[in-house]
Amino acid sequence: MTINRILSRCMVAAATLLPATALAQNVESNLQSEFAKKAIDSGAQREYVPTKENLEARKEFEKKRFGIFIHWGFYSMPGQGEWVLTRSNVPFDEYVELASGFYPSKFDAKEWIDLFKEAGAKYMVFTTRHHDGFSMFDSKYTDYDIVDATPFKRDVLKELADECHKQDFGLNLYYSHVDWYRDDYPTGWSAGEYPNLKKHDDVPYEPYFNFMNNQLTELLTNYGKIGGIWFDGVFDHRRDSMDWHFPEQFDLVHKLQPECLIANNHHRQIQYGEDFQIFERDLPGENKSGFGTAGGVSELPLETCQQIVNGSWGYHVNKMNCKSPAELIGTLVATAGKGANLLLNIGPRPNGSIPGPAAESLRGLGKWLDKYGETIYETDKGDVSGSWGSSTRKGDRLFVHITRRPGDELYLPLYCKVKSAKLFIDGTPVKFDQWKHGVQLQLPEATEGEPVMVLELLTAAK
Ligand code: GLC
Repeated sequence: MTINRILSRCMVAAATLLPATALAQNVESNLQSEFAKKAIDSGAQREYVPTKENLEARKEFEKKRFGIFIHWGFYSMPGQGEWVLTRSNVPFDEYVELASGFYPSKFDAKEWIDLFKEAGAKYMVFTTRHHDGFSMFDSKYTDYDIVDATPFKRDVLKELADECHKQDFGLNLYYSHVDWYRDDYPTGWSAGEYPNLKKHDDVPYEPYFNFMNNQLTELLTNYGKIGGIWFDGVFDHRRDSMDWHFPEQFDLVHKLQPECLIANNHHRQIQYGEDFQIFERDLPGENKSGFGTAGGVSELPLETCQQIVNGSWGYHVNKMNCKSPAELIGTLVATAGKGANLLLNIGPRPNGSIPGPAAESLRGLGKWLDKYGETIYETDKGDVSGSWGSSTRKGDRLFVHITRRPGDELYLPLYCKVKSAKLFIDGTPVKFDQWKHGVQLQLPEATEGEPVMVLELLTAAK
């Protein structure tokens, strides 16, 4: 870790604990003072007090446990994922031209929502504007949007929002802080990394900040109730090299819709204005993706996003190997076992349809949830997990999801008394021995075709 980074981390900790005067006395070098000023400017010291509506919305959000993430834009046309502009080094002007050929003839909002509901999902997160800066909604602050720049001319967000509201399905919106298109975006890491991007790192931030806030105002005014905003992109300005003025922006979101929940995909400690914590391709507390959970797992509602195929968020023709329903069920139970929502991503085709294998896997997951949803929705994190699987809790009911059968017996180190145990699906009693620090269960025969054995234990208070 570099000395600057150590200093930054110390100052973040200090900024949240000390009043401004005490902070000032503690800074020694210019570098430190500069950072402290930024921390103060950006409101790191302000206390965020969520409204009553917001706290209620958090509880509702946690109950949902399963949502669908959609990465979709005209970037789906070359079928190489949502970073195709940069990763494939497409000439910038050619990339922009693609927009005028984007005509998702098979897009049908109802079909999408019907499928997501069949999969057992309770909400979706739609990419309204990804890093390429293209708005997938009708914005009066840019012509680089689906209504003005494509022959399709339909506001797909409006169609989705209307359908979500009609079907009482949650709608959250992804919004990128990075913009590879606009000249007023103060470019960062990606412009240095990818030769086809224009560089303008010295432009003032204010015009771009205003643009984003204007668009957020449109999103939170023209599309009815929005469950949450999923911000993404701080990676472009490494660590603390830029003050994004998030507190002001997040205050605006909360002012427009107090119950709208905010999350920021920064892989760091929770900051001012954030209402839930997100984990990218990792269970809370784990670090298999390499993004880690710096700052640990907070007390806020948690959500972890995963891909239905391995290796891409946006539609990618070379990455169509879809996870099977059994794999998805395994991911869902592990995520719920950590007390987190699973946000499962799919990348629709350029024509607006959802790739068949993804739709099939979603339906398979939905069939399982039809039977076992009670052990997932509205549950809390379970008491135990292990190489055998994980658990969720609802009051005095502990649901044990066994994804890898350890043999004919399973020992659970439980600190509460078990009153009874049965197979969740048909109530078949399960024999067990209560020991001082746990319970030894005699597992029933596995049922063919059931990827997970689910036991229900009735316990004394946790
Ligand atoms: C990363 C990627 C982005 C994707 C997001 C989803 O931030 O840059 O393409 O939308 O992860 O978690």
